[in-house]
Amino acid sequence: MNILAPSILSADFTILGQQIKATEKAGAGYLHFDVMDGIFVPSISFGLPVLKSIRKASNQVYDVHLMIEEPIRYVENFAESGADIITFHIEAASDVREVIDKIHSLGKKVGLAIKPKTPVEVVRPYLEHIDMLLIMTVEPGFGGQKYIDYCTDKIKEARELIDEAGLSIDIEIDGGVTYDNVRVPIEAGANVIVAGSACFTGDIESSVKALIEKISQ
Ligand code: DX5
Ligand code: ZN
Repeated sequence: MNILAPSILSADFTILGQQIKATEKAGAGYLHFDVMDGIFVPSISFGLPVLKSIRKASNQVYDVHLMIEEPIRYVENFAESGADIITFHIEAASDVREVIDKIHSLGKKVGLAIKPKTPVEVVRPYLEHIDMLLIMTVEPGFGGQKYIDYCTDKIKEARELIDEAGLSIDIEIDGGVTYDNVRVPIEAGANVIVAGSACFTGDIESSVKALIEKISQ
């Protein structure tokens, strides 16, 4: 089953709770929460108190994407604040296994993320230890960018690698998804689709419903 994960980075924060509920009502199983530290990526977004406060807005799976240096420092706090899946960047962690094990020890699912220029090959040693692989389809840092076409081949490569190893890991993609291109990563082998601007532009419920319909075809 393919899953849509609306990214609240593109939401209207004056009515955030309502907007989250609209994505849930429309059938989005996950809610994507982008944390940026201004060091790993140039921008700063939001963090722990916001997660804690919106946790009660819906019963979705809270999919927390950490774009922060040395994520080990904060995984416990994000777990306590309501994350269900904690995804961190391989490029940001000096000891990848340590972070994976720490997240699992907190009873949460682990996602491992790679930036567009990071080869899929680098995740191979960790595949059997993670629940989800996040392949960025834009440079992390901002919403509303254009989908990078060469990342489609990375999705295919990752799917092959995972299938060959006989594993059942989710492949999530993040960035530049629109109603018109969303089938591209799906056909390549992704099954969790993050979408920010495509969900929060116009009427949220109808945008989310239309995307879900398209990824379920
Ligand atoms: C980028 C974030 C994305 C972003 C996606 O660093 O990780 O989740 O919000 O936004 P869109 O869908 O607008 O490209
Ligand atoms: Zn993200």
